[in-house]
Amino acid sequence: MSNPSAVTWPKITSAAQPDPTVEVRIDELLSRMTLEEKVGQMIQPEIRHVTPQDVKDYHLGSVLNGGGSVPHGNRYCKAADWVAMADAYYAASMDTSDGRLAIPMMWGTDAVHGVGNLVGATLFPHNIALGAANNPELIRRIGEITAREIAATGLDWDFSPTVAVVRDDRWGRTYESYSEDPQRVREYAGEMVEGLQGDARTNEFLDQFHVIATAKHFLGDGGTVNGIDRGDNRDDETRLRDIHAAGYMSALEAGVQTVMASFNSWHGERLHGHHYLLTEVLKNQMGFDGLVVGDWNGHGFISGASVLDCPQAINAGLDMFMVAHPEWKTLYHNTLAQVQEGVIPITRVDDAVRRILRVKVRAGLFEKGAPSSRPLAGRDDLIGAAEHRVVARQAVRESLVLLKNKNSLLPLSPRSKVLVAGDGADNISKQTGGWSVTWQGTGNTMEDFPGATTIWMGIEQAVAAAGGQATLSPDGSFNDKPDVAIVVFGEDPYAEMQGDVQNLLYKPADNSDWELLKKFKAQDIPVVALFITGRPLWVNKELNASDAFAVIWQPGTEGAGVADVIFRAADGSVFHDFTGRLTFPWPKRPDQGPLNLGDENYDPLFAYGYGLSYSDKDTLGDDLSEEGMTIQETSDVLEIFNRRPLAPWHIEIEGSRNDRSEAHGNITRVSTVTISAVDRDVQEDARRVVWNGAGLGMVALATRDRQVLIDYLNEDGALIFDLKVDQAPAAEVILRLGCGPSCNSDLEITEEITAILNKGWQTLTIDLKRFPDVGSDFGLVLPPEEFFHLVLEPFGLVTSGELDITFANVRIEKHVAGKA
Ligand code: BGC
Ligand code: BGC
Repeated sequence: MSNPSAVTWPKITSAAQPDPTVEVRIDELLSRMTLEEKVGQMIQPEIRHVTPQDVKDYHLGSVLNGGGSVPHGNRYCKAADWVAMADAYYAASMDTSDGRLAIPMMWGTDAVHGVGNLVGATLFPHNIALGAANNPELIRRIGEITAREIAATGLDWDFSPTVAVVRDDRWGRTYESYSEDPQRVREYAGEMVEGLQGDARTNEFLDQFHVIATAKHFLGDGGTVNGIDRGDNRDDETRLRDIHAAGYMSALEAGVQTVMASFNSWHGERLHGHHYLLTEVLKNQMGFDGLVVGDWNGHGFISGASVLDCPQAINAGLDMFMVAHPEWKTLYHNTLAQVQEGVIPITRVDDAVRRILRVKVRAGLFEKGAPSSRPLAGRDDLIGAAEHRVVARQAVRESLVLLKNKNSLLPLSPRSKVLVAGDGADNISKQTGGWSVTWQGTGNTMEDFPGATTIWMGIEQAVAAAGGQATLSPDGSFNDKPDVAIVVFGEDPYAEMQGDVQNLLYKPADNSDWELLKKFKAQDIPVVALFITGRPLWVNKELNASDAFAVIWQPGTEGAGVADVIFRAADGSVFHDFTGRLTFPWPKRPDQGPLNLGDENYDPLFAYGYGLSYSDKDTLGDDLSEEGMTIQETSDVLEIFNRRPLAPWHIEIEGSRNDRSEAHGNITRVSTVTISAVDRDVQEDARRVVWNGAGLGMVALATRDRQVLIDYLNEDGALIFDLKVDQAPAAEVILRLGCGPSCNSDLEITEEITAILNKGWQTLTIDLKRFPDVGSDFGLVLPPEEFFHLVLEPFGLVTSGELDITFANVRIEKHVAGKA
């Protein structure tokens, strides 16, 4: 689809101006490169699947390490181990013994709030917190520090900043966004780029102390329908430009050298294959002359493509495949052949490689030498350095937002008797959130964050220094009645996909934090709530049960920044006031998924920009409505298809090449599957599905809003459907529960299908407990207790062989498991 559009996009003047001598140098390199070398530059595998020998043999342009991926699988390795690995890849790329050119490879990594994958690094508050700090200068300092800690490991390239403008806080990446307000994102993006890369108008630009930055994810990632990760953005082009592209304006001005394509689609068309947006808008109209890198096999979702075969992405304007797949060589060979056959024009390849080389030349990679020879390389003393932590602690202080302060309870006297409760008080995993040592950030301990300070540790220090008395008691029990209780609680860590939620209820099935707050209130102990969260959530009950309530987001490794603000100085004066202000409005009801300043029905509890200072008089009572939305008790039978798909479900079919179609009317076809409406008892009450055997195909009942089906799993539920099988399966048949692209739990049911061949209508009952973990080669493991919170497709049938079946009456029922 090309978009003959009336919308014009601004031409951006980059601080990194084109340089004719650079272009001459690139011309010279290009003229000597073979096609193999050129295609190799366009491939970026993941370190778990690529050796230095591969870098040499395939002339690879780059490698990456994904979230939680570290040299030799050893998370406790030192800077020197990273550098040694970087050296090995680098040396392979510079090896000319095969008579080919030396082109330095570059290594990309996710340092999205400091160097998350590096044990001991300084981890800053996540972006949503930084947004609340409203301090662009601080953002630049954070970028500078992050660049130095990356440089200590010998890496070249950061996949940051995320410049998503998130409009539906149910998205699990809301915390990666500075604000729902395009203006704030615009103010910050350029600063972060400048901090990471250095000022492009000076010699510090991409010098030994700076790294290449990435603005991601282009475009519209924060605006998908219902906040579904990797979902569809349906905004019109004006909103796409004025809201979602805001961060790119300043990032490009600051000279950002790379842009990452997004997983999401725009009106159904995947961004990785979007010629209009990648080439016409970003490169031609906005004038971006750096490189566009893909996102984690994201090219594989393009209609007609697969992870290992995807000329569409290159033709659309992607310059480098991020191919996190053990078989990436197949993608290399396919791409090479597609250029030879003219499917991909050589001019497109030359343009892509020119962009890649331009970034490498600008980054000085041809001159910087082996990673180990660079001035900061191997410097463990820089990783988590005291002067870096000072800045992170400042960021924590400035990002805290005070929502309630009845009777001016805060600031507390550090000379009081303080009880510190809640499971977040001394919990480094919770306070660092996602993209911290591991991809999802779960299950980490203090061993993973040497040098870090938990919120409790910060409070303990402040109180001890002033001569008060602080006690840690996660469950809130005490012998000696405290003067005040501080309860630290909130969301557990998560990252992409797993962090999506269906509504803004805080912990729908668990009231323990609320009970803890109420317990203190009942004993007349003033209570301060400190809420750890990656997004605004409906917490009216917790607000009512607290005297003071502050949102502390996910503050990172420097938890002491919290005590800096909530306690007075030793002399009784205010030490640090609350200066953080909401950059996402706070919901009044849990069903306010999209709640944005300027909306027609804008009705927040706390508006955009809200946040108290100590001198403000707080008028909030303890009587906020607690009737938000109770999670309805789930009925015993959840009907999904009964003569027709019942709301919110619809039918989708998918062919072998991501050709996907919603089934309407009485017949719908994709490459490998045909579905038609047929009669069983009454007109068109069943669906016949025929697979032609030409590759994988799927039929599914799907919805666009995540469904929480955990009750059905817990209460012995089963998936039940009627099936008529008119042809024996020619290949294995999979029953699938889907939670989004590459997020499936697959159960093989070939035997069950074969057993009912030619037996007319039969009912199959499949215990939900039989569904295995969602797993992939790349380490994503989602146990059933988690993916039953995220269901998008409660019923799918997948096979690659010929098959002819008819289905009807699809439902999920409680209390039937085991009785089948
Ligand atoms: C994320 C990116 C990240 C990449 C590499 C993707 O799944 O969307 O933000 O840079 O993984 O880890
Ligand atoms: C990998 C991470 C990666 C993420 C990106 C996960 O499966 O384990 O390393 O960053 O995918 O989507």
